[in-house]
Formats: sequence, C-alpha cells, structure tokens
Amino acid sequence: MLLNAGHEATVNTLGNGTLAFARHPEQWRRVVDGDVPAAVALEEMIRYDPPLQLFERWVLADDFAIGDVPIPRGAKIAMLFGAANRDPRVFDSPDEFDAGRENAAQHIGFGGGIHVCIGAPLARIELEASVDALRELWPDFELAEEPQRTGAFVIWGLKALRLTRG
Ligand code: HEM
Repeated sequence: MLLNAGHEATVNTLGNGTLAFARHPEQWRRVVDGDVPAAVALEEMIRYDPPLQLFERWVLADDFAIGDVPIPRGAKIAMLFGAANRDPRVFDSPDEFDAGRENAAQHIGFGGGIHVCIGAPLARIELEASVDALRELWPDFELAEEPQRTGAFVIWGLKALRLTRG
C-alpha cells in the first residue's frame, strides 16, 4: 500500500511541484525567504499540477444526474481532479501558480468522500520535509534541461527532473 498508493503520488507531486517552482522563481523566492511556509506551498503544488489527474467511480443508483446530464446505473465516470483544481468558481486566477494561495488546500488532489486519500497526512509531512530540505540545501536551483512527461494518462509525472545550481 505504501509503495503503490503512496510512493508514486508523493514522488510525482514533488517532481511536478519543483518544476512549477523552477518555472516561477519569484514564487520559490517567497518560500526561500520564509514568506510562505512549506506547509502552505505544498497545497498549491498539489492544486496546480496534481500527480493523479483522474479517478473513476461507478454509478450505483437509478435516476442519477450531474447537472442536466442523466447517467445510467452501472456507468463509469472519470472525475478530472486536475480540471476541478483549476475551477475559477473556487480559485481566483486558477492558472496562476501562487505559492501562498490562501485557499489552495481546498483542492481535491486527495479525492473526497469515504475513499478520500488515507495517506494524505503522511504525504503532507513528507512534502513539507522535502520542500524545507530543498530550501535549505539547494535554494538556488534551476532547470538543467527541459523535462519530459512520462506520458501516463492517470499518474501525471516527469521521467526525470534534472536541476543545476543557479
Ligand atoms: C501527494 C501525495 C498523494 C496524493 C496526491 C494522493 C491522492 C490520492 C487520491 C486522489 C486518492 C483517491 C481518492 C478517491 O477515490 O476519492 C487516493 C487514495 C488512496 N491513497 Fe493517496 N495520495 C497521496 C499519497 C498517499 C500516501 C503517502 C499513501 C499511503 C501511505 C496513500 C494511500 C492511499 C490509499 C490507501 C488510498 C485508497 C483509499 C480508499 O480507497 O479508501 N496515498 N490518494
């Protein structure tokens, strides 16, 4: 459970989020300067570029609809977490990466309902420690090369992220 459910998601959050910081050095500066705590920044990392883009559910009830669209019993629904995390009704300027975003933790990167991620508290501890370590050990990182995506459909991440000192 730790390896399959936990490791991939946390690793890819760190890769995607570090890439977001590399592309927005002014946001990384806020973390390095201590204006934005790692515990806040990690929520924006998940909101902005979540490692799990979608999860699926089956409709188990009759007369089910989303908005005006009826969905028959037994149908499978793909819930696009990545899109929901950019919902302008919830997040101001959703396409902006704002490390100190006040309501970033309202993202649904950990899912929701009775199957909400059981490892979210551990993931938050791991990510906070990782961002703090990067901040202390390597505050001046830059991209060494443009990274490539793995191409996977559900688990959204990078093949590798090569960094260099600025
Ligand atoms: C940033 C890191 C992580 C992210 C973004 C993440 C995301 C998710 C998401 C989206 C779900 C599906 C929720 C749903 O179906 O509504 C999930 C489920 C789950 N996660 Fe995570 N996860 C992370 C880290 C972890 C870790 C570290 C663990 C284990 C230590 C873990 C264990 C699980 C398990 C066991 C489930 C299934 C829960 C169930 O079906 O009742 N996850 N996670």
